Order: sequence, then C-alpha cells, then structure tokens
Amino acid sequence: MATKNILVTGGAGYIGSHTILQLLLAGFKAVVVDNLDNSSKVAIQRVKELAGEYRSNLSLHQVDLRDKPKLEQLFASIRFDAVIHFAGLKAVGESVHKPLLYYNNNLIGTITLLEVMAAHGCKKLVFSSSATVYGWPKEVPCTEKFPLAATNPYGRTKLFIEEICRDIFHSDSEWKIILLRYFNPVGAHPSGQIGEDPRGFPNNLMPFLQQVAVGRRPALTVFGNDYNTVDGTGVRDYLHVVDLADGHIAALSKLDETNIGCEVYNLGTGKGTSVLEMVSAFEKASGKKISLVMAGRRPGDAEILYASTEKAERELHWKARYGIDDMCRDQWNWARKNPYGYESQESAI
Ligand code: NAD
Ligand code: UD1
Repeated sequence: MATKNILVTGGAGYIGSHTILQLLLAGFKAVVVDNLDNSSKVAIQRVKELAGEYRSNLSLHQVDLRDKPKLEQLFASIRFDAVIHFAGLKAVGESVHKPLLYYNNNLIGTITLLEVMAAHGCKKLVFSSSATVYGWPKEVPCTEKFPLAATNPYGRTKLFIEEICRDIFHSDSEWKIILLRYFNPVGAHPSGQIGEDPRGFPNNLMPFLQQVAVGRRPALTVFGNDYNTVDGTGVRDYLHVVDLADGHIAALSKLDETNIGCEVYNLGTGKGTSVLEMVSAFEKASGKKISLVMAGRRPGDAEILYASTEKAERELHWKARYGIDDMCRDQWNWARKNPYGYESQESAI
C-alpha cells in the first residue's frame, strides 16, 4: 500500500507534535504547515529524533494558513490524502481582549485551508474542536448530542468552524469530516523530549503546575473552591496527549470508510478529576510540594465537565489507555528535563 501523505496544520504545537510522531510511527508521511507563532522548530527536530528510521517522512513548511498563494503552491506540489487541522490560537482570556485577532486567525485560516483543499480535490479533514463548545452543561457526562454554547470568542471560533464544516458537507457530499472535541489534554511523550511549551503566562492548569514545580512561579492559584464537587474545586476530564494523538490516527482510519459525512466525537477518558486531586497526583509524581493560593472562580469556567466516550469507543475503536498518574509522571519527566521548554535549545539553532 502506498504511504499516505497527511497535511498537519499547527503540527509544531503541543498536540500537533505528539500527533506527527504517532503518524510517522504508524507509517504515514506528515507535512507540517505552521507559522511557529506559538511553537518551536526544536519540537520538529525532536520528533525526527524520536521517529528514527521514519524521520525522513516529516517536513516543515513555515507558512501562515492565511497565506493562500503559499498554501496553493504546497497543494500543487504534493497530493494530500487528508488534512489534520490543529492551527489556531487557543488562549481564552486573550480571545476576550482581542476577539478580532482570534476571528481573523482561526476563521480566516480555516476558510482559506478549506478553499484550497476543495480546489485541489482533497476533501478529508480532521478538525480540533473542544469541549468548550458544551459551555456549562446541565449534566455530565457530555454526549455529542448536547446543545452547544460558547462563552468566549475562542469558543465561538470552534463553534463557527464546526458549523462551517457541516455546511460544506451539506453542499458537497464528497467531503468527509471528523470534528474531534478534545477534553483536557495534558502530559507529554514518555521520552520527555516533547511536551507543552506555552509562550508567556500559562493559562491552563498543568503548564502552570509544572512551572511552580520547577521553581519558575511561587504558587498555583486555585480558581474557586466553592463548587458543588468532591472538594469544592472544578472537575475536568484530563486526557494523556499521546492517547489524544492516537485518537487522530483512529479518525484517519474512519475517514477511509464510505458514507461518513461530517461526524463529531468526544475525545476524553470519561473520568472527572478535581483541581486538588490533580495537584496531589502531581506532587506524588514530582516529589515537590505545590504551594496553593485559593482565589475566586475564573469567569466562564464550568463546574464539572467530563466526556461520554461511548461514541468514540464504538465508532473509532479508540479508548484512552493512560490514567492520571501516567499523565503526571510524563508531565514531570518533560518538565524536569526541559524546565524552560524548548527555549535553551532554540538559541542554538
Ligand atoms: P498550540 O498553540 O501548541 O498549537 C497550535 C499551533 O498552530 C502552533 O504551533 C501555532 O504556531 C500554529 N498556528 C496558529 N495559528 C496559525 C496560522 N494562522 N497559520 C499557521 N500556523 C498557526 O496548541 P495545541 O494545544 O497544540 O492545540 C491544537 C489545537 O487543538 C488548537 O486548535 C486548539 O484550539 C485545539 N484544542 C486544544 C486544547 C488544549 O487544551 N491544548 C483543547 C481543545 C482544543
Ligand atoms: C480551558 C478553556 C477552554 C479550552 C481549554 C484548552 C477557559 C474558561 N476554558 O479549559 O475553553 O478549550 O482550556 O485550552 O479558560 N485552574 C486553576 N488554576 C489555574 C488554571 C486552571 O485552578 O491556574 C483550574 C480551572 O479553574 C479548571 C481546571 O483548573 O477548573 C482546568 O483549567 P484549564 O486547564 O484552564 O482547562 P479548562 O478550564 O477546562
């Protein structure tokens, strides 16, 4: 069977870098398009090292998705079997202050990509959506049939893109699209060579925890301890990033089936964990005591969010393998080997 060429937008980023490694190891060729706004070339270099004999099946094009002529050129030179679309901005707080930046980057980037794909007859897409589209759900676990709501511009870009995908499928049934709603990806590759390396102030729990553990920040601020949960802190469905990466391989296989249309799947573990439970698991994995500062609720935060994973298990034949202790072990392994992310090596290339 011929090797399949997969275009991976945002492939240098956190989830993208783990996914391209799994793609290479599964025998795919991966072509990354990334403007490196929130990522580093070092991640690509490390993926190549981890991929061993498959390293030559990976290439990086430093291109902004909104640069249509460059994207056209790429599609004219390579025939892609499918596209995995990660590229986008993802900081919720920033999206509230700079909505046009988010609408411009995430929506125009996606529309440009879809136009170029259509023009070149490449109509298979896997898109990174988010559990944020469930807003504050009335009950858990969240099934894919729940009503959708966005509470900020970032979340609205996910909702809009989902709707755009449904519309293009209705207009042209040759499209095959899988929308993956990720819950909370955390952890890192077990090698400790690739992981999450946020630029600036970390917005999410695990990158923040990791920076406290390596001494870059004094304490973790806990957003709310008066929720109706096991210990008063927010509950989320944390998912190992390698499991999430494998979910994309499962989605690509699904795209090979006939009549798939435009389908949506939750990717999570189906288990809820509170902030304090996560802190305690991370303390155990790292051997470090994490100082906490209790604060009020963060605006827009849901109380409890976790996935129903039935549909993904049944139709994608995918199920998360790793638990919270594995996630914390691998997050710590990455953090202690790279306390400043890719930064120290960046200046060397
Ligand atoms: P990330 O920021 O690490 O990766 C995104 C990548 O896209 C970066 O490498 C960035 O440089 C690139 N990029 C952004 N805009 C671009 C553009 N216009 N052209 C080319 N490249 C561009 O983020 P991530 O955590 O890997 O997330 C990947 C996707 O998954 C995003 O769409 C995000 O919204 C979605 N998602 C992430 C999470 C999470 O918790 N990390 C949860 C749900 C959904
Ligand atoms: C957040 C975004 C969501 C986005 C996801 C991935 C908000 C409101 N939601 O989800 O749209 O898809 O990230 O980018 O921003 N917490 C603390 N202290 C911290 C950080 C987090 O207590 O410094 C708590 C939060 O209140 C929450 C839990 O940890 O209860 C997880 O937070 P986070 O990692 O930011 O993920 P989400 O809020 O689920």
